[in-house]
Amino acid sequence: MPLPKAELHLHIEGTLEPELAFALAARNGVSLPYADTDALREAYRFQDLQSFLNLYYELMAVLRTERDFADLADAYLARAAAQGVRHAEIFFDPQAHTARGVPMETVVRGLGRALGGSVQNHGVSTRLILCFLRDRPAESALRTLEEAKPFLDRITGVGLDSAEVGHPPAVFREVYETAAALGLRRVAHAGEEGPPEYITEALDVLGVERVDHGLRCVEDPALVDRLVRARIPLTLCPLSNVRLRTVDRLADHPLPAMLDAGLLCTVNSDDPAYFGGYAGDNFDAVRDELGLGEDHLRTLARNSFLASFLDDDEELRTRYLAEVEAYEFP
Ligand code: HPA
Ligand code: ZN
Repeated sequence: MPLPKAELHLHIEGTLEPELAFALAARNGVSLPYADTDALREAYRFQDLQSFLNLYYELMAVLRTERDFADLADAYLARAAAQGVRHAEIFFDPQAHTARGVPMETVVRGLGRALGGSVQNHGVSTRLILCFLRDRPAESALRTLEEAKPFLDRITGVGLDSAEVGHPPAVFREVYETAAALGLRRVAHAGEEGPPEYITEALDVLGVERVDHGLRCVEDPALVDRLVRARIPLTLCPLSNVRLRTVDRLADHPLPAMLDAGLLCTVNSDDPAYFGGYAGDNFDAVRDELGLGEDHLRTLARNSFLASFLDDDEELRTRYLAEVEAYEFP
């Protein structure tokens, strides 16, 4: 039995495995510029975030119907459950779909179909987080939030993703203020490729409660101190960092030093179909490559539930935390 954990940094579009991409392409009459799944996998060699994003957005062309989004999410939930994920807070990128003519309603209803049955079918509780694409104008984010208003009963929070450098958080001040007024929780990608200042700005200007990646905080000791004191969780994604060359090798990843510094670190998969592994694979990788022992792994699992938005269901959080403490490593 795998260590129970929550996944807090997971783009549902990044769980599109090549086999499913081809199946959906056939179902929807979409042609992909790859001969087969092997040829597609060959394209999974990334130089940086942008080179990944180009393929990530390209493959989304196969996602067209409610059923497609439901199938995508259901396949993810099955894989996640098999790796010990008990709770998942799932990002989606509506602008990447509405821009292709796929309505918000199709996306949210489709994902909602899978998430609605997730506890029963997979034993995984879920939350949905709507991400704004930071390389599109702030007005587009505001329109997207407006389009999401009929579905806010299914959406826990908002996030900010896509190409980071040159797109600082402060551009999205107004949409985050509006989201907060609507009672939505707030997270943002910051400090993945962007500088530590973007992390500070996400906290100060956007009021985020949790930072996605946040890796580059290690360059600013005063910021580390602030994150430790305020107990701001970081959703780290070690295999993603290697594939997008944010770190050279996993053995160089600062996770152990970050834990030692007292940061509230969590380990997540980001875009598992593209980066070589799901949540449990990331845990296994940091165990094997960074020498993290049982105490550290249990801390990471505990942190994942502490950092989750289960505040609205403390009973469930308490139950999950008890599972972590009772877990016996094989
Ligand atoms: N970073 C930024 N945007 C993204 C990512 C990521 O790792 N994955 C999907 N959108
Ligand atoms: Zn991400």
